[in-house]
Amino acid sequence: MTSPAFDRSIKIAPSILAADFANFGQEIEAVEAQGADWIHVDVMDGHFVPNLTFGPAMCKAIRPHIKTVMDVHLMISPVDPYIEAFAEAGADYITAHVEAGPHIHRTMQAIRASGAKAGVALNPATPAESIAYLMDMVDLICVMTVNPGFGGQKFIHSQIEKVKTLREMIGDRPIHLEIDGGVDPTTAPLVAAAGADALVAGSAVFKGGSVSNPAPYGENIRNIRAAAEQAL
Ligand code: DX5
Ligand code: ZN
Repeated sequence: MTSPAFDRSIKIAPSILAADFANFGQEIEAVEAQGADWIHVDVMDGHFVPNLTFGPAMCKAIRPHIKTVMDVHLMISPVDPYIEAFAEAGADYITAHVEAGPHIHRTMQAIRASGAKAGVALNPATPAESIAYLMDMVDLICVMTVNPGFGGQKFIHSQIEKVKTLREMIGDRPIHLEIDGGVDPTTAPLVAAAGADALVAGSAVFKGGSVSNPAPYGENIRNIRAAAEQAL
């Protein structure tokens, strides 16, 4: 399978987990105006991960504020009963964890059947080979470079090997390779060189700025992007 038009350029996906929770609409508009390529939306259930955020109703409420791509990362278990609701909320990508249940293959089928693009995420302890039989049914692979649940954690360097392995497994398939956790201008080049194209960043994008002072968002995004592109 060859897809010459597939976009493997570096995409920066700010995670709204690091935004002002009382002001998601304006925060999203601010980071997009400052150069964000995708908006990453972290859904946590207090069960699969030890933290709680929000669900499909919030996703639906923020959808009109997103002009780019709504990248929904489900850190929930079970996943399948909620796929339709997130698809109806307008998610472009719905990503589920391989560790979230015994039937990740069925979950990928259900996400694509909902009309959304299917993503699969791997926790740091999960090997690349665990998704070998999903390669022809996913649109995005997310490598967690922290243990999911919280923003602002330290990047786990052992995951760089996994990114390289997955990049080889992807080959010419039209699959985005996304990194989530601890991405900043020092770690972005490491994962870009290993083959990642979508970089999620929460604290490193939102630090120093606000909706009334959004320029730091732009500077942060440019710095991460420049560092990643320099490594290519
Ligand atoms: C972690 C989330 C990440 C998180 C990244 O569970 O999935 O998307 O917001 O935050 P930073 O960039 O601060 O590590
Ligand atoms: Zn995430």
